[in-house]
Amino acid sequence: MLRSLLLRNKMSDFGLVHRNISSLIQSKGFINGSWVDSSNRETFAVTNPANGKVIANVPNMTADDAEKAVAAAKKTLHAPEWADLTAKQRSILLKSWYSLIEQNREEIAKIMTAESGKPINESLGEVTYGNSFIEWFAEEARRIHGEVVPSPTPNRELIIMKQPLGVAALITPWNFPLAMITRKAGAALAAGCTVVIKPAEDTPLTALAITKLAVDAGIPSGVINVVTTNKAAPVGNVLCTSPDVAGISFTGSTEVGKLLYRNCADGVKRISLELGGNAPFIVFDSANLEKAVDGAIASKFRNCGQTCVSANRFFIQQGVYDKFIDLLKTKVAALKMGPGDESSVQIGPLINKAQFTKVSAFVDDAKKQNGTIIAGGKPRPDIGELFYEPTIVTDVKAPMKLYTDEVFGPVLSIIKFNSEEEAIAKANDTNRGLAGYFYSENVQQIFRVARKLEVGMIGINEGIISTAEAPFGGVKESGIGREGSHHGIDEYVEIKYLCLGNLKY
Ligand code: SIN
Repeated sequence: MLRSLLLRNKMSDFGLVHRNISSLIQSKGFINGSWVDSSNRETFAVTNPANGKVIANVPNMTADDAEKAVAAAKKTLHAPEWADLTAKQRSILLKSWYSLIEQNREEIAKIMTAESGKPINESLGEVTYGNSFIEWFAEEARRIHGEVVPSPTPNRELIIMKQPLGVAALITPWNFPLAMITRKAGAALAAGCTVVIKPAEDTPLTALAITKLAVDAGIPSGVINVVTTNKAAPVGNVLCTSPDVAGISFTGSTEVGKLLYRNCADGVKRISLELGGNAPFIVFDSANLEKAVDGAIASKFRNCGQTCVSANRFFIQQGVYDKFIDLLKTKVAALKMGPGDESSVQIGPLINKAQFTKVSAFVDDAKKQNGTIIAGGKPRPDIGELFYEPTIVTDVKAPMKLYTDEVFGPVLSIIKFNSEEEAIAKANDTNRGLAGYFYSENVQQIFRVARKLEVGMIGINEGIISTAEAPFGGVKESGIGREGSHHGIDEYVEIKYLCLGNLKY
């Protein structure tokens, strides 16, 4: 069966399967190759944040369902149709999945926009970006190399092999409903793991749509399992404590990441965490200001600011401050806000009420502490309940929430500075360390600052830096481990050392 699938995929160049949005919308969970309801038959509604309308009802799965999903993944790990595949066969299956996602990119993007509110052009961009992880890891599957190490003693061979970690539980956020799954699942499947995915309750439909395509691509039953729920705690508890789960990969808030980390301690599970940031964006006097303003807009307003690597605090040097602010105000005023399915829209709604309340509260807190609103600063109920204007706040300082915490919304917080030392000290004055950005045309300064910023990723004269080829991850409380790049595979393999002794040469 698998052989013929692999052959068919190869022969037909993966076949052309176009679908409309409704045929890709699935309203069941997926365990052991079957589309299933929750064991207690409960469902929850997935709504469109632009207008509050229900798009679909999906199973509100339970701890029991999570256990079934883990059991299926565990059984399949050692099943001939997964464990015995060669790296090349896994690579072909992943390429087939990649190809089907590519062929259905518009339908997937429409589902993503409907459930996340993301402007349609950003959703299309995310399909391309997210799918690039499947393509990348399809290629990496064949390069999970071991080592033969020179032995210090005679008549021995020392061999290091890499084996699949086991069942990997992937807990993913709503802000990138596709890419955060494929960045994890691509690596896990390439390494030979099986997976249980718990997508965010706000955006399970994109996850289910790409799972449908994984089935069509011939990825065997039990390899990918999806548990949809809005009761994250009991399901998360199973994933953290089951002895059959070898590792957890989570992208989301630092608070939840810490909880999962604690819950995984007893089982000493492998854990990979991509958590929140508080990214500095520094514009030095030597910067090219046009580029810096474009980078600031791109970084801040990607997905309405609901991105872990979005710049959170903008430090602008005194000499270019006024000019930067003038340029910024003009460009922010030109941004078009509205429902994401209108192709000219650049800023959609916030994902849900909690997010909307948080953004409003952060801006109100800054106002109370003498922050100056120079653009926006208000909700837009005339467009929809969850829309908040692109906003610029100057005179931001500690202990304003906008300074100390990640706003995760369309708010640019501006801080004026004098010297390079001051900017670096303020940029590092946080327990987060995901991304950082700075603009400078001075090569001495570029290397000085790059070495000193306490973050895992830096954009230098660039506002958008994520790509499958590069390692994504943070330092301090922003996470553990790396995703993407050839390092991404490391989270899903065990290193095994073999010592062959008493050889006769
Ligand atoms: C995230 O916000 O968690 C991911 C953003 C990215 O991959 O660039």
